[in-house]
Amino acid sequence: MKHAMKIFLLAAVLSVLVFSAFLGAGQQPAKSEAPRLIAIRAGHLIDGRSAASIQNAVILVEGEKIKAVGPNLAIPAGAQVIDLTKSTVLPGLIDCHTHIGYEPANYYEDLFRKSPIDIAVTVHLAAKRTLEAGFTTIRDVGEPEFIDVALRRAIDSGRVVGPRMQVATLAIGATGGHADMVGFSPYLKFGQFSGIADGIDEIRKLVRFEVKNGADLIKMIATAGVLSEEESVGAPQFSFEEMKAMVEEAAMWGKKVAAHAHGTEGIKMATRAGVASIEHGSLIDDEGIRLMKERGTYLVGDAYNHEYITAEFKRLGYPEHILKKESLVGELQRENLKRAVAAGVKTAFGTDAGVFPHGWNAKQFAFLVKCGMTPLQTIQAATVSAADLLGWSDRVGAVAPGLYADLIAVDGDPLQDVTELERVRFVMKGGVVYRKE
Ligand code: ARG
Repeated sequence: MKHAMKIFLLAAVLSVLVFSAFLGAGQQPAKSEAPRLIAIRAGHLIDGRSAASIQNAVILVEGEKIKAVGPNLAIPAGAQVIDLTKSTVLPGLIDCHTHIGYEPANYYEDLFRKSPIDIAVTVHLAAKRTLEAGFTTIRDVGEPEFIDVALRRAIDSGRVVGPRMQVATLAIGATGGHADMVGFSPYLKFGQFSGIADGIDEIRKLVRFEVKNGADLIKMIATAGVLSEEESVGAPQFSFEEMKAMVEEAAMWGKKVAAHAHGTEGIKMATRAGVASIEHGSLIDDEGIRLMKERGTYLVGDAYNHEYITAEFKRLGYPEHILKKESLVGELQRENLKRAVAAGVKTAFGTDAGVFPHGWNAKQFAFLVKCGMTPLQTIQAATVSAADLLGWSDRVGAVAPGLYADLIAVDGDPLQDVTELERVRFVMKGGVVYRKE
């Protein structure tokens, strides 16, 4: 009798354990619950698509998506209400140019004492800071060792807090170029995956390898860079045929190409080769502007970077040669961005965060205004236009029914003062609140 009782108890305990393990694995209990309804009352709403803000808007969020939005919408019974009547609500911001794993501390230490494992262990911190700053989506344009793919997976599965991500994996560049290690002993070798490819065959193979391992887009190093030791800043680093092959191969797999290009010639070559965006674009000339306009190529100008590099990179031990390259392009880049904006080239917001601390992304808005953009244009560059560049207009970049409930709020009116976006008070991603002050 006693024995039978024990067996009975054991069975009961086991079944509870099994059932809770089942729930713990994220399974729903048999009866399906209706998705959560949230009603957000927004004092002002900048929805991303319209030019004017909407007063006293209600945004209905069902589960992870926006269900309805409009002025004075009726709030259904049972909905949880979030009161943002004193704030301006906007779509979650999008940064189209980040390096989430980078964080310069010291030039030589970063190069020689850190391994990609150091980055992999700490990258979640940068992801969290980025999201809390109001950037609910990022397009990350180059990381070592597929750390970006792993981070994207961890975020998508809900185990790590961070923005939605599109990732480029290893930036693809030529031997001796911006993606290579230049200026060191020829015997120096790092035992890690390489983004170096020379010639059409190697380029096609590397694109395939990256797509196979999780790349959402391809990053091309079209010209020389600043924060690397090759001689010039801006000389082309691939032939036109190589650029074309990369774009063609990427397109076969349904992927767009983002081209790092500072130099006049390289910008035009990459544009003609069919890249989706020119990153940096520092030395663009009138012909380049005309070409980009014709083709609808996006310009992603990192207008804040110069500020931070000039202020901090000497202290971080960057070689004189690199600092000199920065002083050659920094101001020119802003002047040229101004010309491109005035000419009507499409722009998307991208900062190069990682060169400066993650979470400071919004500091760039004020610099874009200095480059001739209106506050609304800067906001649209970081919302609707960025979503268009990512091919994600059906998911993010606006406050509209059917899109993810990715929303932020600020106290003041960013159409008057864009620096309001540096002080984000509320962040929701996919219907989940990550910040509320
Ligand atoms: N990652 C870029 C490069 O090394 C940063 C350029 C920063 N400077 C600038 N003026 N935008 O080329």
